[in-house]
Amino acid sequence: MSTEVRSSTAERGAAALLPTYPPRAATFVRGVGTHLYDEAGREYLDLVAGIAVVSLGHGHPAPIEALAQQAAVLGHVSNLFWTEPAVRLAERLAELSGLTGGTYLCNSGAEAVEAAIKLARRRGRARGGPGRHEIVCLEGAFHGRTLGALAATWARAKKEPFEPLPAGFRHVPPNDLEALTAAVGPQTAGILLEPVQGEGGVWPLDPAYLAAARALADDHDALLLLDEVQTGVGRCGAWFAWQRSGVTPDAMALAKGLGSGLPIGALVTRAVEDGFAPGDHGTTFGGSPPLAAAALAVLDAIHAEGLVENADTVGRHLADALRVVPGVAEVRGHGLLLAVELRDGDAATVAARLLEERRVLVNAVTPTALRLCPPLCLTHDDADRAVEALAAVLEASAGGSHRG
Ligand SMILES: Cc1ncc(COP(=O)(O)O)c(C=O)c1O
Repeated sequence: MSTEVRSSTAERGAAALLPTYPPRAATFVRGVGTHLYDEAGREYLDLVAGIAVVSLGHGHPAPIEALAQQAAVLGHVSNLFWTEPAVRLAERLAELSGLTGGTYLCNSGAEAVEAAIKLARRRGRARGGPGRHEIVCLEGAFHGRTLGALAATWARAKKEPFEPLPAGFRHVPPNDLEALTAAVGPQTAGILLEPVQGEGGVWPLDPAYLAAARALADDHDALLLLDEVQTGVGRCGAWFAWQRSGVTPDAMALAKGLGSGLPIGALVTRAVEDGFAPGDHGTTFGGSPPLAAAALAVLDAIHAEGLVENADTVGRHLADALRVVPGVAEVRGHGLLLAVELRDGDAATVAARLLEERRVLVNAVTPTALRLCPPLCLTHDDADRAVEALAAVLEASAGGSHRG
C-alpha cells in the first residue's frame, strides 16, 4: 500500500500558485444555481458569484452546451477570418445597447478597458494631435491590473510596485462636477467612469454627474468611456447601468457577467469617427467562436429568464431588508450590486464569520463594507437567508463586544 499522503488542495495551491491573492478561505468543488459545495459536501449560499461574474448561476446548461456544440464544429480560427458567432454576438450587443458603431471582442475586463483607452487616444491624436491623449478618471476607480488599466485605477498600493506606469491619467473626486470641469480640456481624449464604482466600495455616480460628464466630453471633443465590467449585463437591474440614467456613452467595456464564468470581454461603441483602423489593435483569442456562442447563450438566457428584472426586484427586496438590520449603517448600489456599510464594522471579520458559521459568501470590499453581487437568479428566499445570517452574525458580534 502506498504511504504517500496527498496533501490538501489548499496546501498544494499555496505551493503551486503564485501568491498574488491572500490564502483562500475555502475550496469549492461544485456549484448549482446560487449554491456552492465544498470538499466536504457542505452547501453555501453564494453572494459573490466569482466577483459579479456568474450571472446565470452556477452550472447553468445554456452557455456550457453552446460552448461545447460550437467547439465541436469550429473552435478557433483567429481574427484573420470571419466567424458567425462573433458577428452575431457583436450584433446582439449593439441591439441591446443601441451602441451600433461596432464591437471589439476580447477576453477580460482589463483588456476591454485597455481597448477603450486606446480608442480614445487613437481618436484624440487624430483630431487634436499628440497632446490630446489624457484620460480623466476618478479617485476610487478600479479598471484592472494591466499597466494601462492600472494607470487608470486609483489605489496607490496596487500601482506603486509597478511604476512607472503609462502617463496621461488624471484623477478627480467622484460626483464633484467642479473638479471634473477643471480637469477636462483640449488635452482630454476621454473621460473614463464606472457608473457604480465596484471595487472602490460600490459607490453609484449621480445621474446628473454622468449627464454633465457626457456634456463635457461633447464640448471638448473627447469620448465618454464607461467601464461596465462589473455593472453591466443586467447586474444593476438594467442591461447596462447607464441605461438607468439615460446617459449614453461613446464606448462601454464589458466582461464578467457576459460569459457567466467563461472568459470573454467586449468594448461596444457608438459610431466613433477617427476610431480604430485595421492594424491598430487586436488579440488572438478575442471573439473565438465557442466563447462568442457561450456569451450569446448567456444573453439569451438572461432575457428568457427575466434576470434583469429579477436583479431589480430581488435587489430592492434585499437592500430594503438589509437596511433595517441592527448594525447596518447604510446600503448602497443598484440591483444585485450592493454594499452593506457596517456601523462598527470590521467587514473582513464579518465576512469570515458569515462563511464559517452561516455558510454565506460575501466579500469585504472595504474595511467597513461588505459587497453582495450574487448570481442574477437570486431568489427572495435566498435573499432572506442572507439577511437573517447577517443579522445573526452582527448580533453575536455586538453581544461579544458588550461582554468583552
Ligand atoms: C470595473 C472593473 N473594470 C475592470 C476590471 C478588470 O476586469 P478583469 O479582472 O476581468 O481584467 C474589473 C474587475 O474587477 C472591474 O471591476
